[in-house]
Amino acid sequence: MSSHRAHALLAILLATQLGCGGSKSATAPTPTPTPTPVPATPPDPLRDAASASGKLVGAAVQSTFLTDPRYTEVFDRHFNYVTAEYEMKWDPIERTRGSDDFLGGDAIASYAAGQGMKLKGHALVWHGSVPGWANGLSNTDFRSAVEHHIRATADHYRGQVYAWDVVNEAVADDGSGLRDSIFRQKLGDGYIADAFRLAHQVDPQALLYYNDYGGEGLTAKADRIYDLVRDLVQQGVPIDGVGLQMHISAANPPDAAAVASNMRRLASLGLRVNISEMDVQVRDLAPATRLDVQKSVYHAIVAACVAEARCDAVTFWGFTDAHSWLNAPVGSDAPLLFDTAYAPKPAFFGVQDAFLHR
Ligand code: G3I
Repeated sequence: MSSHRAHALLAILLATQLGCGGSKSATAPTPTPTPTPVPATPPDPLRDAASASGKLVGAAVQSTFLTDPRYTEVFDRHFNYVTAEYEMKWDPIERTRGSDDFLGGDAIASYAAGQGMKLKGHALVWHGSVPGWANGLSNTDFRSAVEHHIRATADHYRGQVYAWDVVNEAVADDGSGLRDSIFRQKLGDGYIADAFRLAHQVDPQALLYYNDYGGEGLTAKADRIYDLVRDLVQQGVPIDGVGLQMHISAANPPDAAAVASNMRRLASLGLRVNISEMDVQVRDLAPATRLDVQKSVYHAIVAACVAEARCDAVTFWGFTDAHSWLNAPVGSDAPLLFDTAYAPKPAFFGVQDAFLHR
């Protein structure tokens, strides 16, 4: 293009910008337009980083959260694995014996299916969610009630769940043995194997997990969990993996190398490992530094999963501080990846870096 033509085009352009006649009176400066606030560019999807490492990345949800567009905008962008935080447990399902209410879990399951997300059912057998009417039953009647619950719930969600937390938190906190729960008292120590066998009989496709807290690093409880699942594997019980809940504190986190060793010994049994309920409390740290410390803890623990081939998923127990079991009242803690305004925290980028081997 000739320089003359270029000057002409530039003149046209300037003229259209400055109004007809092309000249601008020296006394009337063009007002600087108020910039339209540009929404912050959302970070790259966390699930893309996780997929680069061959991992699923998930969050615990409640059906009521899924009606909030601020929530679903972030949830849909970053996660591909869903755990029902509450609504697929025994207590909310069977408040009245014999009448199973799956509505809350169904809302989560259909949302997950609509978004192409995998679903983890949580949790078929847990002492923290036993309907009130079950407490006074005879041992025999309690067994038939538990068997009904497992059969009805695993049947209802067959083909919808990718995995189940079949038994949750069955080991005593001091690692001395099994927790003395209503299940152990009324059904004996064999209730764990029985639950896995029944769940597998009803839904042979679902991956079946044992899930617990406090056994993430090389603790006495971790040793007892290892012994439990080793025995289940040796008995031919259909168990596929172990969920390490990872409810931890940034002030005193488990040693990442110990977590890696624990993951490795569980994997050596042929089992998968999940980080299943991760959140990192910061309430005990100085406000000025706590989010950076939290970022490094998230990074170190997720990196341990990334390094373990049989660690196939990382699930956070929620993703926004606006909805955390630890943050009640809101402001008392900040354990998750996004703040109460759904903005990503340093922790989000620590997790993303871990998935990307950075
Ligand atoms: O949805 C009802 C609401 O309709 C009702 O008005 C309100 C008051 O009764 O209760 C609401 O249900 C609450 C539910 O959370 C949803 O917010 C239940 O009372 C409450 O007990 C339930 O707490 C859950 C708890 O497990 C017990 O099921 C927490 O959200 C959940 O974060 C927590 O998660 C556990 C895991 O399952 C196992 N690992 C530990 C983890 C933390 O405790």
